[in-house]
Amino acid sequence: MKSIIGIGNALTDILTVMEDESILKKYRLPVGSMNWVDSSTASTIWNEIKDRKIQIMPGGSAANTITGTAALGIRSAFIGKVGDDELGRLFKKGQEKIGISSILLHGTQSSGRSMVFITPPNAERTFANYMGAALEQEPEDLNEGFFDGYDILHLEGYLVQNHDLVRRAVEIGKKFGMTISIDLASYNVVESNYGFLHDIVENFVDIVFANESESKSFTRKAPEDALDELARVCKIAVVKIGAQGSFVKSGDEKYRIAPFPAKAVDATGAGDMFAAGFLYGYSRGLSLDVCGKIGSLVSSKVVEIIGTKMDQATWDGIKSGIAEIIEKA
Ligand SMILES: Nc1ncnc2c1ncn2[C@@H]1O[C@H](COP(=O)(O)OP(=O)(O)OP(=O)(O)O)[C@@H](O)[C@H]1O
Ligand SMILES: [Mg+2]
Repeated sequence: MKSIIGIGNALTDILTVMEDESILKKYRLPVGSMNWVDSSTASTIWNEIKDRKIQIMPGGSAANTITGTAALGIRSAFIGKVGDDELGRLFKKGQEKIGISSILLHGTQSSGRSMVFITPPNAERTFANYMGAALEQEPEDLNEGFFDGYDILHLEGYLVQNHDLVRRAVEIGKKFGMTISIDLASYNVVESNYGFLHDIVENFVDIVFANESESKSFTRKAPEDALDELARVCKIAVVKIGAQGSFVKSGDEKYRIAPFPAKAVDATGAGDMFAAGFLYGYSRGLSLDVCGKIGSLVSSKVVEIIGTKMDQATWDGIKSGIAEIIEKA
């Protein structure tokens, strides 16, 4: 089986269920909104909630995908940057606990974090995010030795604001003959890095993951036509259309992948887990449609929970589901 290394923004996910909205009022966070906070607000909020009952785990798009591949049993590594602080150490420990080779460099700022508050009565989600040290990754940080022995390089689109970093990563990947995959992350990432992303995807990337709006921004086309266009420029194209499933294409081979039925409560992590499942299938050399079905299965499970942390019983269920998919194929 092949091995995988991911590069992304190391952001600790901190989830707190609140009994009321007082903390949101205190920090002027509108209910249900996504907010960027500065370093001092980030640390004040962290100190206020750290002794409560919180769920804390390594997060960020590529890190989530790598959590998934590690849980499924692929040798997995992650490169990112944190601060020299408690959250940074927790990030590393969290990754190592699930068997990830965690390559975390230290920046000068404190560790990046995504703090989410769930408030009554409707389990509304309010975010206070801080990028901190995650944004300090530099091309020179990428030591070729980190990549040695890995077959797949997975990148999150959120990195492309740092063109030099992404270019160095894909150049190393190519040099070592790795399969390079990228998740386009968000339509506004695609819009604001249009030319750069086209260059990278067309000249370096083997597997591209895009949702409907990202594929539209990249190609100016609706999902199926976007899929055709993406498959013309890379080896494998995946276009995801949320609860309606996805399309996968490689050369002339094309499939529509049905979603697995799910009682969806929170869509967070669907795309990241789709990539984990798909890349797991790819790492085992399974056919394109089977890779898609595995992605569909893993993502259908993460939408059934709040946050992205699936317990062991859920992973065990996913593994038997995967065995069934492979058997039927
Ligand atoms: N309600 C749902 N029920 C079942 N499967 C779902 C549901 N929502 C999403 N999925 C699965 O997750 C996959 C990825 O979801 P989506 O198309 O929303 O990607 P994304 O926009 O990249 O996600 P994210 O918001 O996590 O970045 C879908 O192709 C589908 O297989
Ligand atoms: Mg996504």
